[in-house]
Amino acid sequence: MSSDFPAYAPSEEHELLRRTVRELADAKIAPHAAEVDEESRFPQEALDALVQNDLHAVHVPEQYGGAGADALATVIVIEEVARACASSSLIPAVNKLGTVPVLLSGADELKKKYLTPVARGEAMFSYALSEADAGSDAAGMKTRAVRDGDHWVLNGAKMWITNAGVSEYYTVMAVTDPGKGARGISAFVVEKSDEGVSFAPKERKLGIKGSPTRQVILENVRIPADRIIGGEGTGFKTALATLDHTRITIAAQALGIAQGALDYALGYVKERRQFGKPIADFQGVQFMLADMAMRLEGARQLTYHAAIKSERAFHGETIPDLTFVSSACKALASDVAMDVTTDAVQLLGGYGYTREFPVERMMRDAKITQIYEGTNQIQRMVIARQLLK
Ligand code: CAA
Ligand code: FAD
Repeated sequence: MSSDFPAYAPSEEHELLRRTVRELADAKIAPHAAEVDEESRFPQEALDALVQNDLHAVHVPEQYGGAGADALATVIVIEEVARACASSSLIPAVNKLGTVPVLLSGADELKKKYLTPVARGEAMFSYALSEADAGSDAAGMKTRAVRDGDHWVLNGAKMWITNAGVSEYYTVMAVTDPGKGARGISAFVVEKSDEGVSFAPKERKLGIKGSPTRQVILENVRIPADRIIGGEGTGFKTALATLDHTRITIAAQALGIAQGALDYALGYVKERRQFGKPIADFQGVQFMLADMAMRLEGARQLTYHAAIKSERAFHGETIPDLTFVSSACKALASDVAMDVTTDAVQLLGGYGYTREFPVERMMRDAKITQIYEGTNQIQRMVIARQLLK
């Protein structure tokens, strides 16, 4: 184990960061969360607050002007923002998802050019792997990139792209050699301002309504050849290697949503009286709370453990079980978040089912964590492949 990361418990600095982000999220992000959801609008207040406090893309290394936070610190930031507003937590999470392909495989010039504006808060970065007919089977994509002299020309449509339209930059996976399957896919940086880039209308969703999800349409988008990320044909591997690091951030989002619901329910059961006493006095209620907290803490420990492994991998260490722990924490934390938020609604009774209380939003927001960055069936498939190989 690397001496820089002797244990997987958060350090004092991590706990200080948690308190700082929690205070900021409670003061500047939570007050807008219900309205952002109700109006399906981008949480601009959250973006402004995160940028002002250098929390919008904490993972960007210092050499590109970033905060250089480790993977556990990044998890803590996402978790604490998600506790207040799940939509807002996709700002730091997707900035990480979009930039990790460049960090892992990009040329130095590409890193300098694209990571610096993200670190400064001048640009956001999205990740475009999925298509309408290629979700779980991502290698089945049809978007094409064809070499033309010193340029690549891209055509196709990437579906479900988080923060599309808001982000300046996009990591786009496209087929460069149709005969080669996954080995014929390459990754590119596409800019919002590139001619031929457009966006379909926002999807109308069950939850994370403040985070725009749109198709990115590419019509004869001509980009310089040096916008390729890594070598030709390496794009699918880069895309999957990225997910090994970023499924951990979706676990963090799930933990934050679940913690927000548990904290709200804990306050409510002490106040709400039935049969002449607070409902917190009933053992049936206490056992539900105990199960929620117990399962949440188990998922948190696995997620932090995975974050430390991710950090060690970024420092060049070979971590044979990174794919396993990443998929495992994402599937576990998201399943726990769905259960905990559903139980929180239950603990508030009829009130929990209304928009007057935040737990129904948290339950709707939790659902996506079981679907994106690979459905939980796909995580189980990845885990089983790791076990059986
Ligand atoms: N790291 C690096 N390379 C990897 C890898 C990993 N973790 N896993 C596999 N590869 C390599 C393989 O070695 C193989 O390369 P070679 O042929 O050179 O050996 C290549 O990638 C193809 O691997 P598979 O044959 O295993 O690929 P597959 O077609 O069976 O698909 C899959 C694998 C796990 C199902 C994958 O398609 C997958 O993860 N699907 C889910 C898609 C997904 O997660 N999408 C997320 C979109 S982003 C999002 O949703 C955003 C958001 O949350 C905000
Ligand atoms: P399908 O692949 O059609 O799956 C349908 C069902 O079949 C699922 O239950 C699935 O688990 C199951 N299934 C499929 N194959 C198998 C199998 N082999 N074994 C067992 N069950 C299987 N993508 C991006 O690239 N970038 C983004 O920023 C992004 N953001 C998103 C934001 C939102 C709000 C949403 C909804 C999606 C986002 N996605 C993004 C796409 C997301 O990753 C996909 O929706 C997801 O991977 C599932 O693909 P699909 O929707 O095509 O479902």
